[in-house]
Amino acid sequence: GGAVLVAPSILAADFAALGSAVSAAEAAGAEWVHVDVFDGSWERCPNFTIGPPVVAALRRGTGLHLDCHLAVADPGRYVDALVAAGASGITFHYEVVLGGQQQQQQQQQQERGEQQQQQQQGQQERGEQQQQQQQGQQRGERGEGRGEVSGPGGSVAADVDVDVDVDVAVAALAARIRSAGLRAGVALAPDTPLTDELVSLAQRGEVDMVLVMTVPPGFGGQCFQSGALDKVRRLRGACPGLLIQVDGGVNASTAALAVAAGANVLVAGSFLYGHPKGLAVGVAELRAAAA
Ligand code: DX5
Ligand code: ZN
Repeated sequence: GGAVLVAPSILAADFAALGSAVSAAEAAGAEWVHVDVFDGSWERCPNFTIGPPVVAALRRGTGLHLDCHLAVADPGRYVDALVAAGASGITFHYEVVLGGQQQQQQQQQQERGEQQQQQQQGQQERGEQQQQQQQGQQRGERGEGRGEVSGPGGSVAADVDVDVDVDVAVAALAARIRSAGLRAGVALAPDTPLTDELVSLAQRGEVDMVLVMTVPPGFGGQCFQSGALDKVRRLRGACPGLLIQVDGGVNASTAALAVAAGANVLVAGSFLYGHPKGLAVGVAELRAAAA
């Protein structure tokens, strides 16, 4: 394939020696360093890792592209701090933007519900509404609340509005990141479908990168989920110039699969930082697999 960027994930490095880990990536010829910014606030990413002060410290020691993978409930909260810290790119999760919209919708429903209650509607109806809200939330957490799925609660009337708002919110956050001069990425967990709306955003060049996760976010050392590569193939077919990143379980053999599917940014943590022959050999093996 064409040029592939290699992004060692410092989640797999020795946190007591992060500066050395970044220097090693630089010496190995990696183009990017992948920084997992997790704060434990998103239930689907149950880990607490690195924040803006550490990104700032890394920036003082390197000129490499610092690729921040923000798997938190409220990514907008950290954009300014990461920009100030010297991050080069910010990738946020599609699922949390969806979740935020659902939460807003639930809040509105709840407010309406309270008004109705004042207007002498009984306890029973309120219970039903809460149930509806819970169903909506469940769908939101699974990233399925897009009217494509006719599961329980599929008849909630506001679904159509939510669909539109989510992609507006994704575009707005991406625009905010890009206006600060950073690359903007949108991440999809392995079980999150690739929507037509996101493909369109990528086609219009409103996002620089899509991160197709090949493990559930949270921890290094998990098994590569090759099922996610269907999304890579579809994205590559639609967007020839897009940065398509894979993250999770990437090693020499899975890198070959990912690149064949169309990925051009390879994140690898445990494979590179745990490589018995060292990081530089690991990077060379990824490049050979991608060639
Ligand atoms: C997982 C992180 C990855 C992680 C990958 O949630 O997003 O960046 O470091 O680690 P490996 O390459 O070991 O799967
Ligand atoms: Zn990551």
